[in-house]
Amino acid sequence: MKVIMLGAPGAGKGTQAALIAEKYHIPHISTGDIFRANLKEGTELGMRAKAYMDKGELVPDDLTVEILLDRVSKDDCRDGYVLDGFPRTIPQAEVLKDALAKRGEKLDYAINIEVPDDAIVTRMSGRRSCPGCNAVYHIVYNPPGKEGVCDVCGEALVTRKDDEADTVRNRLKVYHDQTAPLIDYYSKEEVLRDVDGTQEMKDVTEAIFAILDGVQ
Ligand code: AP5
Ligand code: MG
Ligand code: ZN
Repeated sequence: MKVIMLGAPGAGKGTQAALIAEKYHIPHISTGDIFRANLKEGTELGMRAKAYMDKGELVPDDLTVEILLDRVSKDDCRDGYVLDGFPRTIPQAEVLKDALAKRGEKLDYAINIEVPDDAIVTRMSGRRSCPGCNAVYHIVYNPPGKEGVCDVCGEALVTRKDDEADTVRNRLKVYHDQTAPLIDYYSKEEVLRDVDGTQEMKDVTEAIFAILDGVQ
């Protein structure tokens, strides 16, 4: 199964992609997580990406595409994957489509999690992320068992640098300008499925699983 997650920053792509990966035994691939891991390790890629991420801008397509194509060529992707945060531009979507077509494959679903902008800014201020295993929490909607500590791996949780209100607003603008056109793109490809992302997390999950199970 090959699934991509669409949605504004903070719509819940990472939260839901992790649950999809667990249920369907496929890898969860987040380009944002890959960039952040590189930054933590101090690689050249990480340093290059940071300049864009800190401002809420997109990392250039050539850099992003190379990383993604390399990642999906790994053995663990043989039976599919869930992409979170890729593609984010029409050119990225075209590259993915071509790469799949070369192998006689195609995407199964583009899950579009819909959340209005005003709900996003509040959500982001309460997000806490684990730099160790990329688990995502929210101080009100999904708190860890012990405040400030990851339930999964025990690392101290952090606030992402790009979650400051001004940066979030720019990320939303970039989303509407560059990424939202993908909704139309995937609708034409006949793989788009919209999900109401303002519901409680577990209800969003249930709606997505119903789609992926072919129930809906
Ligand atoms: P990335 O890491 O992908 O960030 P993003 O798209 O801005 O999305 P987020 O991770 O902020 O949100 P999410 O949708 O995953 O929501 P989450 O589940 O955490 O990208 C970061 C940067 O990297 C980009 O700005 C860009 O610079 C660069 N980049 C990455 N990929 C790129 C690409 N392909 N091309 C170019 N540049 C790229 O949920 C958010 C919060 O809400 C959490 O606290 C969560 O607990 C809570 N929450 C989730 N669901 C619900 C719910 N139903 N109700 C209440 N709260 C909820
Ligand atoms: Mg995310
Ligand atoms: Zn963790």
